Amino acid sequence: MSKYDEIKKQLKKTPKVWLVTGVAGFIGSNLLETLLLLDQKVIGLDNFATGHQHNLDEVQSQVSSEQWHNFSFIKGDIRDYSDCEKALTFNKLTVDYVLHQAALGSVPRSIADPILTNSANITGFVNMLTAAKNAKVSTFVYAASSSTYGDHPALPKVEENIGKPLSPYAVTKYVNELYADVFHKTYGLNATGLRYFNVFGKRQDPDGAYAAVIPKWTAAMIENQDLFINGDGETSRDFCFVENAVQANILAATANDEGKNQVYNVALGDRTSLNELFSSLVTSLSANEVSYVKSAIYQEFRAGDVRHSQADISKAKVLLGYQPEFRIQQGIDKAMPWYINFLTTCNN
Ligand SMILES: NC(=O)c1ccc[n+]([C@@H]2O[C@H](COP(=O)([O-])OP(=O)(O)OC[C@H]3O[C@@H](n4cnc5c(N)ncnc54)[C@H](O)[C@@H]3O)[C@@H](O)[C@H]2O)c1
Repeated sequence: MSKYDEIKKQLKKTPKVWLVTGVAGFIGSNLLETLLLLDQKVIGLDNFATGHQHNLDEVQSQVSSEQWHNFSFIKGDIRDYSDCEKALTFNKLTVDYVLHQAALGSVPRSIADPILTNSANITGFVNMLTAAKNAKVSTFVYAASSSTYGDHPALPKVEENIGKPLSPYAVTKYVNELYADVFHKTYGLNATGLRYFNVFGKRQDPDGAYAAVIPKWTAAMIENQDLFINGDGETSRDFCFVENAVQANILAATANDEGKNQVYNVALGDRTSLNELFSSLVTSLSANEVSYVKSAIYQEFRAGDVRHSQADISKAKVLLGYQPEFRIQQGIDKAMPWYINFLTTCNN
């Protein structure tokens, strides 16, 4: 039995109380769905900055009514300390684990408005850390980012070798790691960072100027629009299916002392170029009877983007027992029917 299966069995037997911030977003709503299916009690916090009520409604449709009753939602903003405190003391429940996902993602958004990104990602983060420390939670797991590797050229990326950040967003995610470490040393808070590498899957928002590449391209293909590649298409990423990221969160929260207060790469350990990704999406769509026959249009490289990204995931494997269950094509094939349904329902 895998470590993940073992932990899920234990959690089902002895349910815990979890606080998921950013619960109406992409990764947050996937965490919520898995936790509720495991009969956990979940408090969710979100201000709907980039998350959606329809994500929560969809989770409700995937779980039993008893499981849905284990969920309490607080509409609030992590930039307001009292909202963080409210979430951690809700109904006098003792929160065991925090999975902190709330933040403003996107490198270009942070370049367009560094003050806004800073307020959610740094002020909001320190508020959440402080509230979690005061509530004496067992473990605070937070969404860190592969952008922290910045201009460090080595591949694959190993946790201890980072470069200089290449965007305001990357600065905020690195500062999160520094704060988490200081809160551990100063106050004894257990805080574990997960450096996500291009997570994708159902409920990742395809709309808006700051959409991530997989949902953006999938939407363009389904709607038969032109599709643009920044640069020559040989830029590569370690795309990670969201269920692998959910696994990493649950393992990090429940880790033993050796596994706590660390930063981990959360990825697959593979490298896929944008040109390869384009072909994978076309193949998956055609298996779902949607054809896209246009060629990609190549345009300028985008400021702040790193050229290649690939993780070494051995640390998470050894210390957490992390075993990603889905390769990239499996993840794309799993997510595709959701995108087709979501986009065709939206456009009707
Ligand atoms: N998706 C990825 O590939 C990826 C990669 C690296 C890091 N991350 C990090 O993972 C986390 C989740 O990302 P996601 O892809 O699910 O993005 P998302 O935008 O779908 O989710 C973020 C959620 O946080 C909420 N939020 C934002 N600001 C808030 C605030 N001030 N108060 C309360 N809620 C707020 C949003 O409304 C949204 O629901 C973020 O911290 C992001 O930086 C994601």
